[in-house]
Amino acid sequence: MSISAPRILLVDDEENIRFTLREVLRREDHNYQIDEAADGEAALEKVRSTPYSVVLMDMRMPRMDGMSAFRAMRAIRPDLTVVFITAHGTQRTAMEALQAGAYDYFTKPFDLTEVRIVVRRAIEKANLLQQLEDMRRSQAARYSFDRLIGQSAAMQEIFGLIERVLDNDVTVLITGESGTGKELIATAIHNHSLRREQPMVKVNTVAIPETLLESEMFGHERGAFTGAVSQKAGKIEAADKGTLFLDEIGDMSLPLQAKLLRVLQEREIERVGSNKQIPVDIRIIAATNCDLAKMVEEGQFREDLYYRLNVLPIHVPPLRKRHDDIPVLLDHFINIYNPRLRRNISTVSEATLQRLLNYPWPGNIRELENTVQRAMLMATGASIEVEHLPPSVRGEHPVATQNIAYPTGDGAEVFGDLDLRALLDTEDFSQPLAERLQQLGDHLEKFLIRRALQKTSGHRQDTATLLGISRKSLHNKMVRYGLFSEEKERAANGD
Ligand SMILES: Nc1ncnc2c1ncn2[C@@H]1O[C@H](COP(=O)(O)OP(=O)(O)OP(=O)(O)O)[C@@H](O)[C@H]1O
Ligand SMILES: [Mg+2]
Repeated sequence: MSISAPRILLVDDEENIRFTLREVLRREDHNYQIDEAADGEAALEKVRSTPYSVVLMDMRMPRMDGMSAFRAMRAIRPDLTVVFITAHGTQRTAMEALQAGAYDYFTKPFDLTEVRIVVRRAIEKANLLQQLEDMRRSQAARYSFDRLIGQSAAMQEIFGLIERVLDNDVTVLITGESGTGKELIATAIHNHSLRREQPMVKVNTVAIPETLLESEMFGHERGAFTGAVSQKAGKIEAADKGTLFLDEIGDMSLPLQAKLLRVLQEREIERVGSNKQIPVDIRIIAATNCDLAKMVEEGQFREDLYYRLNVLPIHVPPLRKRHDDIPVLLDHFINIYNPRLRRNISTVSEATLQRLLNYPWPGNIRELENTVQRAMLMATGASIEVEHLPPSVRGEHPVATQNIAYPTGDGAEVFGDLDLRALLDTEDFSQPLAERLQQLGDHLEKFLIRRALQKTSGHRQDTATLLGISRKSLHNKMVRYGLFSEEKERAANGD
């Protein structure tokens, strides 16, 4: 919708009324762009395709009356400003329309001054709504880039850096602690770059055994080594025309670093067991949580490779250094997990937010995400309270902020034997959905019953009440999940 040239739709089955209105409005402001429709159905068609500021509409019309058209229009454009034209006898309906959200109405035969005033005010209101919507959009854009969320100055700067490398092939080196979002940044760059239609291929240096890494990256010819039963292209070749993401680059061995350097210099590769040169056209993004400059000093990382990679450095500060991102990230994760966890969380209590702001987040955003997920599972109402947070975040087990191996916040630690991360692995579709949901439900049920038993020190009736189930049902579930034997074992161990 353009604010400078308001578009108005006149809907009336009487041509002379449309003519009069058009003339009045044209004299009021010749910038108005005025369209006409002779019935509700035709009007609805026009609203579908044109962003009108205001619709002036008769009540009684053939095919589709004003009220039905109004309802259908609001379904398409909830904020559309509609003014009704009523004849004697349809005022009642006009009142109904006001209640349903119409802006105003005037009565036939109408006073031309009144028409002008009502339309002018309606346009002002439509413009205001539009400005609000524009503002909301530009704000949203500033707090996110692709799936990256952040309002801190550091994240704003990162969004800016990302934008600078979208229309070129500059090599990017992303550094930062574990869980700060390095991979997410790499993905955002690829997804918005000129190469977005081509593949982004990831190589994780640590995940692949050293002996296999070379052939994984460069490919091999048949018989190049024992086990190389067929020829295979490597990941670098697979990334041709696209982006190669080298994750954990600081863990790459020195010999492999030398080979990678050659790729960067020559833009060619040789498969293992071959000396044929294959040209590759790739954009490289590397990431690491190591201090590469220091590794260079210590002779663990090749200086020449470092300079080749560090063309455009993006450093992501740890979450504890950008607290302003915590509220927006919270909002983001709650929105994501509400439907997935079947929750309806709408707020985080003030005390909870305080704890979250005070905690040093050694596992960074990954840990925050897991913590929010866990708290949402624990919460029964619409708000996340302090008691839903794990003890470490709650501040009950004070922990030093440095030189300590923190739990990463993986489901495994948080939930005892409930490996939530594995169960919620969104990349794994090896199991049919129903089976997976059943399994997830069972795990969760067992876990919650165990927690409830702990809370009530094993008191059956209290546990059943806490869970909102009958004692009998609790008994059956305890049998099913082997919780009786677990209880006996614990008693025998004296804990
Ligand atoms: N700014 C952000 N906005 C939204 N989600 C984020 C942000 N940063 C990280 N995350 C989320 O946190 C998790 C960890 O991010 P990612 O895997 O990109 O981190 P990383 O720096 O590559 O970590 P590692 O060094 O351990 O590989 C992911 O689930 C990611 O979606
Ligand atoms: Mg990563």
